[in-house]
Amino acid sequence: TVVKPVNVTCTAPVNIAVVKYWGKRNEGLILPINSSLSVTLHQDQLKTTTTVASCRSFQEDRIWLNGKEEDINHPRLQSCLREIRRLARKRRNDGDSSVDVGCLSHKVHICSVNNFPTAAGLASSAAGFACLVYTLAKVYGVDGELSGIARQGSGSACRSMYGGFVQWIMGEREDGKDSVAQQVEPESHWPDLRVLVLVVSIAERKPVGSTAGMQTSVETSSLLKHRAESVVPDRMKQMIEAVHKKDFATFAELTMRDSNQFHATCLDTFPPIFYLNTVSRHVISLVHQYNRHYGEARVAYTFDAGPNAVIYTLQQHVAEFLQVVRLVFPPDNNNGKTFLTGLQVEPVEI
Ligand code: PMV
Repeated sequence: TVVKPVNVTCTAPVNIAVVKYWGKRNEGLILPINSSLSVTLHQDQLKTTTTVASCRSFQEDRIWLNGKEEDINHPRLQSCLREIRRLARKRRNDGDSSVDVGCLSHKVHICSVNNFPTAAGLASSAAGFACLVYTLAKVYGVDGELSGIARQGSGSACRSMYGGFVQWIMGEREDGKDSVAQQVEPESHWPDLRVLVLVVSIAERKPVGSTAGMQTSVETSSLLKHRAESVVPDRMKQMIEAVHKKDFATFAELTMRDSNQFHATCLDTFPPIFYLNTVSRHVISLVHQYNRHYGEARVAYTFDAGPNAVIYTLQQHVAEFLQVVRLVFPPDNNNGKTFLTGLQVEPVEI
């Protein structure tokens, strides 16, 4: 008999937080010290594509990332595999006939590729783990709430399980069952909102990864504690309201303040962590100058654990703002640096 593998391919986009997640209260389960909120990009933009094959003849689970085989025993990868198989078994025992009993006893081969440079530090782990969990779920025939499993791969991955505007509710339980992502508004809600990725550096490796960085911040930064307890709860409410009302000025101010506070907590960490570089700081100044010129917030920046700027703006301001950016950062001074626009993600050489 011919042994035929079951093959499923899915894609998941990157999400960019406007209220940042930084700090865990439980390292193993990946439970955060504050809730967060992000925008998931469109499917045709920055994304991960994952194929999972399951076959009776496979001897062991294996994984390839961007064509290179990686260690399947990575603890977070193992968490996702174990949890999704556990969920499938539970569903089957509960009498769910859509669960594929055959696949459940087979090993899987996982192939995952990003359509953007992984080294660019553009939240590749969020799209990657979201895509892995979703694809595995399809292989086994389970659906429903899966963000709690994606969370155990990479915290921010839980938010990429939904499109549009997504909050990750920190939850209160010790077992993490209530620490899940929830859609605040679908992507159709704010059609003229745009995301531009200004790639400041693709060469630089992250000086401190998010896992190690958060851990040191939790241990040493009193500002982080203040942020989590006294700033983020109100900010989440204000941000959700701004999204509901499509109030760009408020959305923009909250986004910039939150990015700044996140990077302030990095500076307050001991020893301090620096994710922004000189070009990042020039982008910040430029955005404030641009907004001041018009007397309103037309553009907002946000930075994750790296120097690249993500810009939120409205469709009617994209062309002009990009022109300004190209004027301030002309091609000659900007050797090899690329701009990715969240509109089409075609790299624009500047
Ligand atoms: O999910 P992680 O461990 O890659 O952490 C992501 C942290 C930030 O990107 C800096 C903020 C966020 O909420 O995405």
